[in-house]
Amino acid sequence: MDGELAVGGLRAGELAERFGTPLFVYCEETVLARARAYRQAAPEALVLYSVKAFPSVSLLRLFAAEGLGADVSTLGELTFARRAELPGARIVVHGNNKSDAELAAAAKCGALVVLDAADEVDRAAAAGVRRVLVRVTPGIDAETHDAIKTAHHGSKFGLPPDETMVAVGEAIAAGLEVQGLHVHIGSQLLDLGAERMTVDWLAAFAAACRKGLGWTPGVVDLGGGLGVRHVEDEPALDIRTFVQALLDRVERAWELHDLPRPRLVLEPGRSLVGDAACTLYRVGVVKRASETTTYVAIDGGMSDNPRPQLYGARYTALLANRANEDATSWYAVCGSHCESGDVLIERVRLPEPRRGDLLAVPVTGAYTLGMGSNYNSVPRPAAVLVAGGAARLVRRRETEDDLVGLEA
Ligand code: LLP
Repeated sequence: MDGELAVGGLRAGELAERFGTPLFVYCEETVLARARAYRQAAPEALVLYSVKAFPSVSLLRLFAAEGLGADVSTLGELTFARRAELPGARIVVHGNNKSDAELAAAAKCGALVVLDAADEVDRAAAAGVRRVLVRVTPGIDAETHDAIKTAHHGSKFGLPPDETMVAVGEAIAAGLEVQGLHVHIGSQLLDLGAERMTVDWLAAFAAACRKGLGWTPGVVDLGGGLGVRHVEDEPALDIRTFVQALLDRVERAWELHDLPRPRLVLEPGRSLVGDAACTLYRVGVVKRASETTTYVAIDGGMSDNPRPQLYGARYTALLANRANEDATSWYAVCGSHCESGDVLIERVRLPEPRRGDLLAVPVTGAYTLGMGSNYNSVPRPAAVLVAGGAARLVRRRETEDDLVGLEA
């Protein structure tokens, strides 16, 4: 609007004024469009929002109304899902080291539990869990950052194939209803190769289970993983293409092994919320540090988005209040933390920034605020959901009193 960035019909300046900065701004229309894209691409599958991407009761309620469920990996995430009134029938509980309390809570609400270790068979049965999947680790190396690969040989997640088969047999013997298998090969995937390989592998493994155990998986949970594009030179892969490729491959591979078609479960996190939000920061110091580097310091940083430090993630930015001005030079965007590594963007072209400008960083909806910290005793930012010219707070800003209030 008049050279100013607007989200959901609201000017960035107005949002910053009303809710303060840093501020996570989620666009409801985008969130709904992403949910509907999954439902349309796979109408027969159970689609679960992976809560870890951004735990939010408000977003979970939006997703629930679209027919989605939730994938949770801790008691905290389960609490979010239950607060959004999701029924156990639409909750899948993960975790490579589930506590007894987590197993009991999963049992209480009738959630589907994904067994991830041999000793979970008896512990789940004792906790009263009824329905389970077993997570298998096929030894497939997904093309993504090492820290977010999960199905390679030696992963801490799931069970190697032989042990998976043993666990399935033991779970059946323990009286559990073993509905199927789970696999999640990694996150921020922008290539279909490893996913296709995984589906082929799973079908062969399902055929081996039929032969060895007389059991076939009625449910196949393929996890999440679809990535989002943060900067222009990254590839783009849309939900429809990704899901269709999975469905086609399952159909082909299952037919090849003459197996009964399974019910599919998908667990997207990032691709549902990643590109639905941007972060608004206020520009403070602009400092020429060397011949080649001029820093634009913002009022947030690695405490609200640690992804550059953890995964070498790259982001872009624009001046939200002067979005129609030409970019004139290269800048580095740094945060306000006491650490040289607190650089959010190494190089971005901007119009000359001035103190008080608003800097918008797009595609920050996933694994940012949810992975945020209070480093340097910085209170975590607020998040709003905007639609049709209206904004509502979905998570309030923390205060210094909140932090001091934890002291014994
Ligand atoms: N299902 C399981 C079992 C998972 O472990 C994950 C993510 C998902 C689903 C959702 O994956 P997505 O669709 O969001 O890729 N903090 C990292 C990402 C960690 C993902 C962990 N598991 C990041 O910021 O890149």
